[in-house]
Amino acid sequence: MEKVINIALPKGRLGEKAYKMLEELGYGCKGVTENSRKLIFEEGNVRYFWVKPSDVAIYVERGAADVGVVGKDILEEYTPDVYEMVDLGFGKCRMCVAGIKGVVPTGDRTLRIATKFVNIAKQYYASQSREIEIIKLNGSIELAPILGLSDVIVDIVETGTTLVENNLEVKEEILPISARFISNKAAYRFKSAEIDAMSDKIRDWLATR
Ligand code: PRP
Repeated sequence: MEKVINIALPKGRLGEKAYKMLEELGYGCKGVTENSRKLIFEEGNVRYFWVKPSDVAIYVERGAADVGVVGKDILEEYTPDVYEMVDLGFGKCRMCVAGIKGVVPTGDRTLRIATKFVNIAKQYYASQSREIEIIKLNGSIELAPILGLSDVIVDIVETGTTLVENNLEVKEEILPISARFISNKAAYRFKSAEIDAMSDKIRDWLATR
């Protein structure tokens, strides 16, 4: 008998894309994309949960979900103990240092960096011998340099529209990002047939695109 696979999907565009892929591969589940407040959906041998994108890795790491779809940014920031199975190639964006257009922060004082990605920022600047101060924010990071709260930001740039519309620009690129299919380590042992089958189908699906 096939074992049930618990799948954590990130709420939002990335999760919808991921679900569409899984549905095409035969893992459809009625109601998943209906706009309701329901959070769990089950059909056949799949059970889907909608979770906050930054929480997917926690659900998978702790085994509340067997597998999930998460951005590489989250994996880099929180380094969860999970298997990274497949690079899905979608959800592409870049982690960047950005700041006010045309302004070069002077190198003689502490560089103030506003970000949601504290660890990524720390790690990036660790390789440069520069005094930094991290200001942790939870959203609308672009406001920080505009209001003088920080000199630069470390944030995700997708289309670049948010930067352009706020007179900001990319100063340095830190890392390319895309969505990843991840698996809980213990689940991968106990449900290896199911998780391998799913990963293989995803790889075949990617190869035909
Ligand atoms: C993300 C990111 C940027 C924006 C980049 O924000 O933090 O603000 O998207 O996208 P763009 O390059 O296509 O303009 P998100 O929408 O996740 O909201 P947030 O302000 O809560 O971080």
